[in-house]
Amino acid sequence: MENIIEVEKLKKNFGNFTAVNEITFRIKKGEIFGFLGPNGAGKSTTIRILCGLLIPTSGKAAVSGFDVYRQSEKIKQNIGYMSQKFSLYYDLTVEENINFYSGIYKVKRKDKNMRKKEVLDLVNLSHLRKSLTASLPVGFKQRLALGCAVLHDPPIIFLDEPTSGVDPISRNNFWNLINNLSDEGKTIFITTHYLAEAEYCDRIALIYDGNIIALDSPRELKKTYAARFGIKSPTLEDIFMTSIEDYKNA
Ligand SMILES: Nc1ncnc2c1ncn2[C@@H]1O[C@H](COP(=O)(O)OP(=O)(O)O)[C@@H](O)[C@H]1O
Ligand SMILES: [Mg+2]
Repeated sequence: MENIIEVEKLKKNFGNFTAVNEITFRIKKGEIFGFLGPNGAGKSTTIRILCGLLIPTSGKAAVSGFDVYRQSEKIKQNIGYMSQKFSLYYDLTVEENINFYSGIYKVKRKDKNMRKKEVLDLVNLSHLRKSLTASLPVGFKQRLALGCAVLHDPPIIFLDEPTSGVDPISRNNFWNLINNLSDEGKTIFITTHYLAEAEYCDRIALIYDGNIIALDSPRELKKTYAARFGIKSPTLEDIFMTSIEDYKNA
């Protein structure tokens, strides 16, 4: 299957500080790829580079075949991006936010109403379209932010800690939405610091201190770990703790 995202020895320095340290990975079309790591690990920096918002220091990265150094405008047309702070206008209604983002994402005039309806259905907010965004619970704002990010029906969706600060039920609902998008063939790149969410990803990369220190499907990670330590059913937590220890001792 084709790689829709290709990253090789990607590096980002801020002054003398290295936020992302020569990371390498590939993502196949249709995958749910999880980027897991503690605060400050380099998750958002990586996402911003892949969204064409930040120029790397060195290395290679291509999204949908477009180069992050030279083709960021092309990249932006092919991706949806939900930033860590949901970028919504709180003084607008749900529907007005959608109308606004339809404009930003240049949804064709003839498609606007149809996309609005489809997206409101997708994120389950049709009944609240006249509500003021400020009045919505966090879980609903999160769904609206996702809806706004996919109005132009992008093949790749970047979600930066979309479930942080959201209650477990809303988190579950949100994962259902992600799975629906994945079933439609969308590629999903999601960051999280919740270990439990890693289990829902096709593959996960553990990022620590700007380095990828583990990368595989949850199942393969467990298999490798089980063989190495002779343990029957290791948890991802066991695996990540050990990977971090190994990294520190290396
Ligand atoms: N614009 C910036 N200037 C200087 N340092 C930055 C900048 N953006 C991020 N950093 C630093 O890079 C590191 C990684 O940040 P970030 O990618 O936001 O981590 P994460 O999203 O995993 O929490 C952090 O130490 C952060 O303080
Ligand atoms: Mg972040």
